[in-house]
Formats: sequence, structure tokens, C-alpha cells
Amino acid sequence: MKRQTEYVAFTAAVAIMLAVVLAIYGYSGSYNIGADDPHWAVTHKVVRTVRDRSIRSRSADIQVPNLNDPALILKGAGQYDAMCTGCHLKPGVNNSELRAGMYPQPPKLSGIQVDPRDAFWIIKHGIKMSAMPAWGASHDDQTIWSMVAFVQKLPGMTPEQYHDIVAKAPPDDDMDMDSDSEHSHSHHAAEGDEPQNADTSAPASNETGKYAAGLKAGAVPEAEAAAQDFLDALRSGDRVKILRLLAPEAQITEGNETQSVKQYAGHHMSEDVAFLKHSELTVVSRTSAATGDTARVISETNIIGTTNGRAARLRSREQMGLKRIGDQWKIVSIEWSSHPLAE
Ligand code: HEC
Repeated sequence: MKRQTEYVAFTAAVAIMLAVVLAIYGYSGSYNIGADDPHWAVTHKVVRTVRDRSIRSRSADIQVPNLNDPALILKGAGQYDAMCTGCHLKPGVNNSELRAGMYPQPPKLSGIQVDPRDAFWIIKHGIKMSAMPAWGASHDDQTIWSMVAFVQKLPGMTPEQYHDIVAKAPPDDDMDMDSDSEHSHSHHAAEGDEPQNADTSAPASNETGKYAAGLKAGAVPEAEAAAQDFLDALRSGDRVKILRLLAPEAQITEGNETQSVKQYAGHHMSEDVAFLKHSELTVVSRTSAATGDTARVISETNIIGTTNGRAARLRSREQMGLKRIGDQWKIVSIEWSSHPLAE
């Protein structure tokens, strides 16, 4: 009996000492929390096991609906393209600026087959201390199943097939995500992007109408005027005016590439100016909405011109974020995408 008590006391003492050492270590700041400092192999293994066991024990009883339902898959295609490609990529795209520095790095979902029950649970609940969000916070189960259904079909899909299915998908109008730049492609599309876009220099994006939910023509006339001023300034090559319309912290996204004002001014701005100078522009629609001192303006413009000596007929979509400073609207974000215009 005495021995047993001593044993318990000893174990408790060791446990307390360990806890104290860990607490000192944690508090001292020695641990490198940086995402660019990988875990030790053993830590990685432990975390991985905890993650896998946790997911499996929660997903085991989930009832899987018919994931071959074409309507479900189609819906999932639109969801995936709108919300997942920045992290999980898509066929023909090998990395993104966002994904490159992430730890754990989101898997390229077109390269792996995920168990549908696990996928449902992960998409719905997210994964702590990784960047995987809990999409259940903003989507119902049926929508999450559509994502699962689509993710099941992703492995082996070619860029063309991906492009086609996304083009046919119903728009994702559940909620707008501000940073869904990934489903546009740029004038400067990465190598390996959809080949049918290669010669237009301004490839396709597929969700006409998708961003436009809740926006009305003329809702915020001053912000719409700023969008027009910006276009005019680009066309006339008026750099001073272009820069005056942009907030210093503005971000400019063309396809997968997001640039600061400085980066844009240093390079792509002159390309855009040169391209637009000799193009014919027709603003097809412009809508806007305001929330307090911020506004969104979406413009659809037909551009007929030439790039690299070839005729280009494009429909360009511009999604602009603005904020009011005093009585002026400054542009804080621009996302551009375009696709070839039908003859
Ligand atoms: C901000 C980045 C980010 C976005 C956006 C994102 N994910 Fe993830 N996702 C992650 C990360 C990081 C992981 C890996 C977590 C881990 O390994 O612990 C992950 C893991 C997953 C997994 C599990 C893969 C496996 O290895 O088993 C699935 C399935 C998944 N995500 C689906 C989606 C879907 C569908 C969407 C869009 C609705 C989405 N994700 C959007 C970051 C993201």
C-alpha cells in the first residue's frame, strides 16, 4: 500500500515538472510559430494521427446521398470554382500565391481521392489550426454534399473538362466572397492554364451574374462615376489620374495575380494602357451597391482591339471595391477577368 502511494506521488511529481517545463518553454517564446518553420517529423505524425482519428470517428456514421446525381455535381462545380480554387487549385493550375505559403498546405484536390464522408465532415466543420474553413457556417448540408460530389469527380479531370463543367454550373449566389479572384484568369494567365485561352491573352471566366447579386445600376452614382473615370484614365494613359483614383493600399487582381498599386504602376499598367488605347470599349452594364462608406461596382465591358498583333474581342468583367474618403471615392480593390466574346 505504501509503495503504491509513493509510486503515485512520484508519477504526479514528474507530470507536474513536465507541465512546468512545457509552460516555461511556451511562455519563453522559444517555440517558432512561423508557418515557414515545418514541424518535426514526430510532431507532424502526432498531429496527423489526431486529425485523422478525430475526423474518422465523427464521419463514420454519416449517410452518403447519391453523389452521381448530375445536378448535384454541377452545383458543386460552381461552388468549388467560386470558393475553393485559391487554396485547392484546379486542373491545369499548379500553385497559387495564397497556397504557396500555407502550412499545412492545402492538398491539390484534383490529385487525391477523399473519402466522401470525411470530405463532408471536413468541408462542413473545417479543421482547426489549418486554414480549412468550416463551410457549414454559411452553407446548408445539401450544398456541402454538392461540393463533395464535385470533389469526387475532380481527380483526372482535364482543364478543358473543368472549364466546361464550371461554365455550365449554376451561379454560386449563397454568399459573396470578396477574394474569389481565382476563377478569373488573367491577361497574364499562368502557363498550363486552359489552352483555348492561349491566343486571346484574356481568358474566360464563367460566372456572369454571379457577383451581381444585390447590385443595382445607379445605386451609388459617385462610385460608378469613379469606375468610369478610372477606365477613362486608363484609356488616355493618364497615370496621375489613375494613381489618384486608387487608394495607396489598393490591390489589383488579374486572374491569379494580385498586385499592389506600386507593382501595377511599375509594369502592367502600361500594358493595359497600351492595349486599351487602340481598343473600342463599350460598357455593357454597370451596377453598384454600398455598405456604409464602402461600395462595390461591377462593370461589364466589351473590348475590341488587338494584342500582340491579333484581333481580340473580349468581354471584360471588372469588380471594384471602393471606400469613401471625405467626398471622394477611392478604389481599394479591382478584380479583372475576361473571356472571348462570341463572334
Ligand atoms: C483558405 C484556404 C482553404 C480554402 C478556401 C478551402 N480549403 Fe479545404 N483545406 C485547406 C487546408 C489547409 C486543408 C488541409 C488541412 C489539414 O491537412 O489538416 C484543407 C483540407 C480539405 C479537405 C481534406 C483533404 C484531405 O487531405 O483529406 C477537403 C475535402 C477540403 N479541404 C475541401 C475544401 C472545399 C470543398 C473548399 C471550398 C468550399 C475548401 N476546401 C476551401 C484550406 C482551404
